[in-house]
Amino acid sequence: MDNETLTITDNRTDQTYTVPISRGTIRAMDLRQIKTGADDFGLMTYDPAFMNTASCQSAITYLDGDKGILRYRGYPIEQLAENCTFLEVAYLLLNGELPTEDELGSWNREVLRHTMIHEKLKKVMEGFNYDAHPMGMLMGAVAALSTFYPDARNIFDPASRNEQISRLIGKMPTIAAYAYRHRLGLPYVYPDPELCYTKNYMNMLWKRTEPKYAANPVIAHALEVLFILHADHEQNCSTNTMRAVGSSHADPYATTAAAIAALWGPLHGGANEEVLRMLDEIGKVSEIPGFIAQVKDGKRKLMGFGHRVYKNYDPRARIIKRVAEQVFEVTGRNPKLDIALELEKIALSDEYFIKRKLYPNVDFYSGIIYQAMGFTPDQFTVLFAIPRTVGWLAQWQELLGDADQKIARPRQVYIGQDARDVVPFAQRGKLQTVTA
Ligand code: SDX
Repeated sequence: MDNETLTITDNRTDQTYTVPISRGTIRAMDLRQIKTGADDFGLMTYDPAFMNTASCQSAITYLDGDKGILRYRGYPIEQLAENCTFLEVAYLLLNGELPTEDELGSWNREVLRHTMIHEKLKKVMEGFNYDAHPMGMLMGAVAALSTFYPDARNIFDPASRNEQISRLIGKMPTIAAYAYRHRLGLPYVYPDPELCYTKNYMNMLWKRTEPKYAANPVIAHALEVLFILHADHEQNCSTNTMRAVGSSHADPYATTAAAIAALWGPLHGGANEEVLRMLDEIGKVSEIPGFIAQVKDGKRKLMGFGHRVYKNYDPRARIIKRVAEQVFEVTGRNPKLDIALELEKIALSDEYFIKRKLYPNVDFYSGIIYQAMGFTPDQFTVLFAIPRTVGWLAQWQELLGDADQKIARPRQVYIGQDARDVVPFAQRGKLQTVTA
């Protein structure tokens, strides 16, 4: 289309301005020329929660919320889930291309070389209470990693950066498994270099006194698929956090710890844990109408439903539903699935949810599978954080290489008090409330 410009008339001054349109956006800085006089700072955009603001240009993940499309580097998520391993997809997200067989072999070896953690980091984790939330332990342990690898601050040295990326991807399952064993008072299980990424994770979680852990292949495959589905999702809250903290040039461990904190929120990655609590509270199919009524009264949220981008069925939720059936053939059917399926059926036919385009998202069914595998609800978001570490690191790496990017420092609209003088106590009345 030619004439990719926008002409704006400022009715305060009758001035008109023409700004270029690029990839469906205008640059916010092009609005600063719109002033009412020399002292005027110029126009800004006001966009709380970034509902309509692109913070970056990215080539990693493409979403179409209306059509329910998700692609990593152009590959449909359905095909990646069907044909690839998680580390294969991790290579794709980080490098932009699927690996050859040789490239995948060396990438697997590189990541699996980094699954051990420093013995002192285990002592850091032993300091947590037995009932510490695993996400708190994960966040603390990942932040502590920055004290073991001070060279990680060389973020513009590609060799150092790649070493930290491999270390983080390799160590996340180990830390997560140690948090799980810590909770149960079980001894830590060391990584087994003969096992692939997911089977090694299962080994560190569930090995008992047998000489060699034998992972169930159906569960291992289910974890591969679930990890692929959770690996990246463009500029979600935790990735935005990774980019904001990364823009200050903090090291990748401190930056990833910040992203873990954001993911933990119940509106974000913490939702999978809340879904299980919600299903437990509903208890049985007959209680669903009463719960839906509370949601429609605005008293409760239907956790695992709704999405800022998807105004259609989350493509990941569709795949997870299929994985659930495969897992239940091994673990036995989780009765919560019946409540979830009925809840979805009722919600998708109810005007309240249809009008607001609320569909199941990635968190609606994932927890049901995790529970069937033997995880407690407080472990669920850890299972989200392990694979999302790849997406966070791919986005962080892209940020560092983007000449357009600087330290993230938004503006604000000040609505507080005008200048005023400090007065002695005798003249101070009740606290002046700031008018909103
Ligand atoms: C993830 O961004 C990503 O990509 C995230 C993620 C990823 O891979 O990184 O996909 C992972 O975080 C998935 C989302 C998990 N969160 C939940 O399941 C929590 C429940 N969902 C909601 O809190 C909500 O839907 C959000 C947070 C996901 C999205 O919120 P928005 O985009 O800010 O939407 P909104 O809160 O403005 O809601 C619009 C309307 C409101 O009603 P009205 O004020 O117009 O009357 O829809 C209602 C909301 O009240 N609504 C819900 C609802 N979600 C939105 N009502 C009931 N139950 C819900 N779950």
